[in-house]
Amino acid sequence: MLFCYRIKQFYWALTAKINRDDDSFIKSILNINELKLFSKLSIQEQKHSVKVAYDVQSICNDKFDKVNINLLLKAALLHDIGKIYKELNILDKSILVLGDRFSKGKLKKFSNNTKIKVYYEHAKLGKELLEKIENNSRLLYLVENHHDEKINDDLELDILRHCDKNN
Ligand SMILES: [Fe+2]
Ligand SMILES: [Fe+2]
Repeated sequence: MLFCYRIKQFYWALTAKINRDDDSFIKSILNINELKLFSKLSIQEQKHSVKVAYDVQSICNDKFDKVNINLLLKAALLHDIGKIYKELNILDKSILVLGDRFSKGKLKKFSNNTKIKVYYEHAKLGKELLEKIENNSRLLYLVENHHDEKINDDLELDILRHCDKNN
């Protein structure tokens, strides 16, 4: 079952595209500074975040009085923002290719470690990144803890984690 889901996720990632509806949805939620950061995510990560936000929106229709939907939609779009560090631009890649050749492969280990670090720490990295442009401590909290399974008394965090897992 999980294997089929992973295959589906892989297919979604390969075919990910931000369409016009997604674009206006994103622009209705994020401000200019947030949009600048969001655009640095890979298209796959952008699409994942949009799908999480769509799910948040549909779930929150029944719980509108209990949660801050605008905040939660923002958190959904920005929850994986720490992953912008994972993407290497063309210049980075060129330097890595040359560095790899000159260091006889030792640099490869370093680049893998960076990716692993971002994978495990993207929630914390995302919070630190957002801190520079946001002063909403609740938004920062949701982003920082979106993988923390130990917190189980927070409805907004529960909704965010649930929608994240489904996408
Ligand atoms: Fe995440
Ligand atoms: Fe996510």
